[in-house]
Amino acid sequence: MHEHWHKDAIIYAVEVENFRDANGDGIGDFTGLTRELPYIAGLGFNAIWLLPFHPTPFLDNGYDVTDYYGVDKRLGTLGECAEFIHQAGSHGLRVIIDLVVNHTSDQHPWFQAARRSPDSPSRDFYVWRKDKPKNARDGVVFPGVQKATWTFDRVAREYFFHRFYKFQPDLNISNPDVRNEICRIIGFWLQLGVSGFRVDAAPFLIEMKGTDSNQGVESYEYLREFREFLSWRTGDAILLAEANVAIDKITEYFGAGDKMNMLFNFILNQQMFLALARQDSVPLVEGLLKVPQIPPTCQWASFLRNHDELDLGRLTETQRQTVFHEFAPRPEMQLYGRGIRRRLAPMFDGSIDRLKMAYSLLFSLPGTPVVRYGEEIGMGDDLKLKERDSIRTPMQWSAEPNAGFSAAPRGKLFRPVISSGPFGYQRVNVAGQRRDPGSLLNFIERCIRLRKECPHFGRGPCEIIETNQPAVFAHACSWRDSTVLAVHNLSEKACSLELDLSDFRARRVVDLLCDQQDMALKNNALRLALKGYDHRWLRLSNPSGS
Ligand code: NOJ
Repeated sequence: MHEHWHKDAIIYAVEVENFRDANGDGIGDFTGLTRELPYIAGLGFNAIWLLPFHPTPFLDNGYDVTDYYGVDKRLGTLGECAEFIHQAGSHGLRVIIDLVVNHTSDQHPWFQAARRSPDSPSRDFYVWRKDKPKNARDGVVFPGVQKATWTFDRVAREYFFHRFYKFQPDLNISNPDVRNEICRIIGFWLQLGVSGFRVDAAPFLIEMKGTDSNQGVESYEYLREFREFLSWRTGDAILLAEANVAIDKITEYFGAGDKMNMLFNFILNQQMFLALARQDSVPLVEGLLKVPQIPPTCQWASFLRNHDELDLGRLTETQRQTVFHEFAPRPEMQLYGRGIRRRLAPMFDGSIDRLKMAYSLLFSLPGTPVVRYGEEIGMGDDLKLKERDSIRTPMQWSAEPNAGFSAAPRGKLFRPVISSGPFGYQRVNVAGQRRDPGSLLNFIERCIRLRKECPHFGRGPCEIIETNQPAVFAHACSWRDSTVLAVHNLSEKACSLELDLSDFRARRVVDLLCDQQDMALKNNALRLALKGYDHRWLRLSNPSGS
């Protein structure tokens, strides 16, 4: 029996348009993605998070949807999408898709009808006001780019609310017809075989919108309503929420295990980057201690980078500046005053040792790891592209023209491939890294294999082990009478340390990640000599059984 698959999942996040172009028109498609399923499954991933692929004007990377039941024709047909979902299943991969229902595109027929007539059935799908709202500039999500949250619509001759860009009018969730539509969308894609949804912008989705007095008030009950519908239709489907919220709100999203099944761990993500920047384990330990306990059937989704800016908004100004200084020192590397628009490899100046340590850390942290496409080979970014597009360049498959992504003439590519510098496709690509036993790609594959052999990290309680080296983060997770230990040196400097393991009845440890070396403990302590950015996964064993 395979219960709670989301706890053992290893998720690969991918954008159809950026992965593989099968028909040579310069943009990735479902046929190309389907052909690459053996690559994704071969690395060991067992779930795919598919970013938005619905018809869209593509003004926000597809997060501006005009038809929730369709596929953007540049990416393929609905039939090809259904075939992809089926083939993914044959490769042992579950598919989770984005559910972008906080807002639609302003080109969505609902909005087009709504703006034309107050009597339209979809008028009340959106949030309108006749008078100019006093707070029109408050609460923008993309400061510096987005000017307001209320915009005057010339056709409707009223103001409409949009939490994000002005071409993304917010849906009015307090309207039961809207909630019915959301359930219909969930039901449709479940019927096509998806295993769950990433709930885009969850805090804004459930926010009561419209009047000054109720703005900012969330109705967590809606989360239960959606979950109930989902579970009734498909018992093991999951909702993974994007909810970058304050710590005291987190438990509302999980409820008693009857709301969201998973939440991205934004708190831990920011604390982790602070720890990496300072080369100090304390912020990471604080991050793990800060997040609340969650119901046993729920799970955190851990990540290093996603498709957005690395949001550091929950750090203090000094902490944020520390991370900027270390990983994004130039203004063009930063975004919205709170984040970093770079991929991980350039943030680490391409240091393979540091990258391996960071991924080893990700795969051993409590939760389910999520890896964005291209991170497994250490792809770079293109800061010439606008806003977050810098990290949305085509997958680098080989040193062939267009990185082997597309047979289209270079000028016809939907987005340019990275073709110069240390992260150019000639140097960073899948084909090259397959042949190199020391590559990041092969390391990630090993981490995934090991992570599957150690469900402890996804399921068991985690205990932090104190060390006398501030840069070293050590933690143990226990599951079904066995314990694994992970040790990470966040610093570039070598160090030696002694770990007190007297809490565990172990006599020996086996090094799992590197050399399978078997080491004896002395007086319940383990001595380790770590190189800069070194990392160990160790299984505790007690051969005598006492
Ligand atoms: C969150 C998504 O992650 C982001 O990419 C998008 O711009 C906003 N939601 C609006 O949909």
